[in-house]
Amino acid sequence: MNTPKIISEELSIFEKKFKEAVKSDTPLLDRIMRFIVNRKGKQLRPMFVLLSAKLCGQINDSTYRAASLVELLHTASLVHDDVVDESLERRGFFSTYALWKTKISVLVGDYLFAKGMLLSLDNDDFRILQILSGAVRQMSEGELSQMEKSRSLNLDENVYLEIIRYKTASLLASACAAGAFTTSKNEFLTEKMRLFGEKVGIAFQIKDDLFDYGSESIGKPTGNDIKEKKLTLPLIYTLNKIDKATRKQLIYIIKNQNKDRQKVQYVIDKVIENGGIDYAIQKMNAYREEAFNILLEFEDNEVRKTLEDLVRFTTDRKY
Ligand code: IPE
Ligand code: IPE
Ligand code: MG
Ligand code: MG
Repeated sequence: MNTPKIISEELSIFEKKFKEAVKSDTPLLDRIMRFIVNRKGKQLRPMFVLLSAKLCGQINDSTYRAASLVELLHTASLVHDDVVDESLERRGFFSTYALWKTKISVLVGDYLFAKGMLLSLDNDDFRILQILSGAVRQMSEGELSQMEKSRSLNLDENVYLEIIRYKTASLLASACAAGAFTTSKNEFLTEKMRLFGEKVGIAFQIKDDLFDYGSESIGKPTGNDIKEKKLTLPLIYTLNKIDKATRKQLIYIIKNQNKDRQKVQYVIDKVIENGGIDYAIQKMNAYREEAFNILLEFEDNEVRKTLEDLVRFTTDRKY
């Protein structure tokens, strides 16, 4: 996503503040923080904070702090997530976990969480911190329940949707809510934007899960989910649709042969053959529509248009 013109200035102010926010006097930490800042991601969440804020009023200092807090928490969650998933690649390069291993990555993630909390507390941004702390809680709950469900092989679409609502959509929802709150101080608008962000977030994670079925280079590993027995929407749909014998066969592969590349490819082929990918795309687009519908309640202006573009990018992106 090219930086949207309407927030290009604000985004560069955000970047400066974010860089400032992660500085450390501890040499090793500071080195890792510079590594993290230099390998920045798409910055979707700060963009959602800024645009949600602008949709509801005038961007101010607390908006920038909310954007930094959201990106700090997001970054912390990625550093920890790569430990949990034993993933060596992130943002087209080695992950923190690959370079510094488990112990340091755990502490780096903690440091980022603490820096986020302090940034809010030192400025009395209590409501913002409250909104975001709810998301952090749900992210942990979502990741844990995902682990639990991968042991019992979850085949329930609603359970899947709940998991991604918690582990991913909660942060995007809070990003939009926090942005709206900083400029409006209006709880009604804040809730409306929270719901908008939640719809976008669910679509966002369905897209992320679709990447796992592809072989394009997206800056992080693909084909990992089946290996970890993480059943995502394309596979859940397929397993519920196919005949009993094939289902048994696929489940056997997922349980016992998930490291065998050819077998996993066989599962993927079955998913494609049975329309699992198409189904997930359809679902993703339905959530995108719901997000668009919420935006329709706002005045038709440049900010709203840019938010719509950002939502479109979320589902059409190539990485
Ligand atoms: C990745 O999020 C983590 C998920 C919730 C799937 P992003 O794709 O937004 O990560 P970056 O910040 O752009 O690397
Ligand atoms: C999303 O889960 C990560 C978080 C919510 C922290 P994934 O494990 O699917 O994310 P990626 O694919 O590693 O980015
Ligand atoms: Mg992961
Ligand atoms: Mg993933």
